[in-house]
Amino acid sequence: MSRNYPTRPETGVLLDVEDLATGFKTGRGLVRAVDGVSLKLDRGKALGIVGESGSGKTILSRSIMGLLPRRGVVRAGEVRFEGARIDQLTIKQMRQYWGKEMAMIFQDPMTSLNPLMKIGAQITEPLKTHLGMGRETASDTAEKLLVDVGIPEAHRRLNQYPHELSGGMRQRVMIAIAMACGPTMLFADEPTTALDVTVQAQILDLLEEQRRDRNMSLILVTHDLGVVAGHTDEIVVMYAGKIVEKAPTGVLFSQMRHPYTEALLASIPKIEQPSHTRLHAIAGRPPDLVNPPTGCRFAPRCQYAQDRCRQQEPPLTAGDHPEHAYACWFPVVTGGFDRPAATDATTDSNVAVTIGGLR
Ligand SMILES: Nc1ncnc2c1ncn2[C@@H]1O[C@H](COP(=O)(O)OP(=O)(O)OP(=O)(O)O)[C@@H](O)[C@H]1O
Ligand code: SF4
Ligand SMILES: [Mg+2]
Repeated sequence: MSRNYPTRPETGVLLDVEDLATGFKTGRGLVRAVDGVSLKLDRGKALGIVGESGSGKTILSRSIMGLLPRRGVVRAGEVRFEGARIDQLTIKQMRQYWGKEMAMIFQDPMTSLNPLMKIGAQITEPLKTHLGMGRETASDTAEKLLVDVGIPEAHRRLNQYPHELSGGMRQRVMIAIAMACGPTMLFADEPTTALDVTVQAQILDLLEEQRRDRNMSLILVTHDLGVVAGHTDEIVVMYAGKIVEKAPTGVLFSQMRHPYTEALLASIPKIEQPSHTRLHAIAGRPPDLVNPPTGCRFAPRCQYAQDRCRQQEPPLTAGDHPEHAYACWFPVVTGGFDRPAATDATTDSNVAVTIGGLR
C-alpha cells in the first residue's frame, strides 16, 4: 500500500479491555449484555469472538468502540487503546478514533450501505472528512481501494448504486469503506453470514490479506467456530455476556475444555458429512440476561452439569497452556472428548489459579 497513512509501532498490545460490563435498562430490569469481559489484542493479530445469537458479541464490540446509545445504558470497566483510556471519552473525542484508528464492518451489509448513494461517494466521504483529501485524490484513492478488495472494473463501480452489486461485492465495498482511512483495528461483525460458502471463503481470505498487508489488528465476530478456525490467532468464546473460554486458536481446537465450546464445535458442519445431515444444535436456550441462573450460566443446557454448577459460578481459570483459560468446574478432556468420572468430591483439584484478565 503506498498511501500515506501514519507510521505506527509494529508490535505490542493495541487493545486492553478490563472487566468491561454493559447493561441496558429495560422495563423488566437491567439486561446484562456484557458482564465482566477482559481481553487483550496485540497489533497485527486476529482475535475471534465466538458465541450463539444473543451472547453479547456485537454489544461487546460496540462497547469497545464507544458506539452505544448514551441513554439507558449502564457501563463499567476500562478500555485502553494504544495505552490511552477511551471508555470515558465523549462522542466528539471518539470521532478522532472512528475510521482512522478503529473501524467496524457492521453485521448487516445490505442495510449498512446507503441505497441512495453511489458507491464512490460512500468511500470518498470518510477520505474527505477524516483525511482531508480533495475530491480528485479521494476519488483515485477510492478506486484503488476497490481494486485492493478485488472488485473488477473498479472505475465503473464508483458510479453504481449498492443494489447493482451482488451480496459478495457489497461486502467487499463495506470492507473498502472500513479500510479507507487505514484503521489500526478492524471489527468484522459476522462479515460472511449472508454469503454463500465460496464467497464466504473469499471474504475471509480478503480480510486476512488486508490485515497482513497493513499490520492491522482484526476482531472477527461470528457464531461459527468454523469461520475463525483458519483466520485468527486467538479465540474467545462468549456465553450469556461472559467469556467462558479463551485460548490461542490451535490450543482451543486441540485442547478445548469448556462444554459450551465443545457443543459449538459439534454444531459445525463437517465436510465428510452428507449435505442433508442434521447439525447438532445445542439443546435449550440461552438464559434471561435480566435474571441469569445462579452458578454456571450454561448449567441448564449442559449435559455434564452437577449440583456444584448450579450453586457456584465457575471462575475463569488458567489451563495447562499459559494463555488458555476456561470457566468450568468439570472441564471436558479433549483429544477424544472422553470425560473423567467427575463428582463433586473431586472438584477442588479443578480449581486452578483464577486469572483476572485474559493473559
Ligand atoms: N438496546 C438493547 N436493549 C436491551 N437489550 C439489548 C439491546 N441491545 C442488545 N440487547 C441484548 O443484549 C444481548 C446481547 O446482544 P448482542 O447483539 O451483543 O448479541 P450477539 O452475540 O451479537 O448476537 P447475534 O449473533 O444475534 O448478533 C441480547 O440478549 C440482546 O437482546
Ligand atoms: S461448570 Fe458445570 S454446568 Fe457449567 S459448563 Fe462446566 S460442567 Fe457444565
Ligand atoms: Mg451480533
